[in-house]
Amino acid sequence: MNIAVIQGSPRSGSNSFRVAQFLCEQLNRKQLVSANLVNLKELNFPNFDDHGELPQVHQLKEKLLAADGVLFVFPEYNGGMPGAMKNALDYFRAEYNFKPMAAATVSAGPFGGLNAWHAFHSWALYVGGILLPNNLKVSGVSNLFNDEGEPVEKNFKSNYPKFLDEFCWLTEKLIAD
Ligand SMILES: Cc1cc2nc3c(=O)[nH]c(=O)nc-3n(C[C@H](O)[C@H](O)[C@H](O)COP(=O)(O)O)c2cc1C
Repeated sequence: MNIAVIQGSPRSGSNSFRVAQFLCEQLNRKQLVSANLVNLKELNFPNFDDHGELPQVHQLKEKLLAADGVLFVFPEYNGGMPGAMKNALDYFRAEYNFKPMAAATVSAGPFGGLNAWHAFHSWALYVGGILLPNNLKVSGVSNLFNDEGEPVEKNFKSNYPKFLDEFCWLTEKLIAD
């Protein structure tokens, strides 16, 4: 099973990047799963216009098409998903259709990116994704990992394994069809 893990923060030193990296590593520990991290920051999409063929559009298109499922990991910015992420996602449409999707939303505060999840939820259904109903809300992201990169925050530690299992379950069911 091929999973694309899309990291949506545009910030240097992003906390969501660390979360995305960790979740990608955990996915790769599962049998028959191959997960690839796609960092939207690195792809550096310009503001949407009819640019013709941009290399990063080609690159992300290939990754979306090759993915059996897509896990989005992104922070809440001002009550929604980051504008830079939405801008990058707007380059595509058909690629999302019937694609199994899940979201881990990140915040430094206590609400785990709840508003970003709601914004994403509407977007994912609009573009035809098959969205996992459960969302991983990652709160207090600055204190999530110890110096060795192991998770130490108790809610994250207890929630991420079930979330990843459920996402793999959904993706596998849809591959089978
Ligand atoms: C532009 C901006 C807007 C933010 N808005 C919110 C917000 O609406 N809710 C929230 O809980 N945290 C908000 N934060 C704090 C983020 O949760 C925190 O910076 C987190 O580390 C962001 O993830 P990142 O490091 O991956 O960019 C905001 C941060 C930035 C930079």
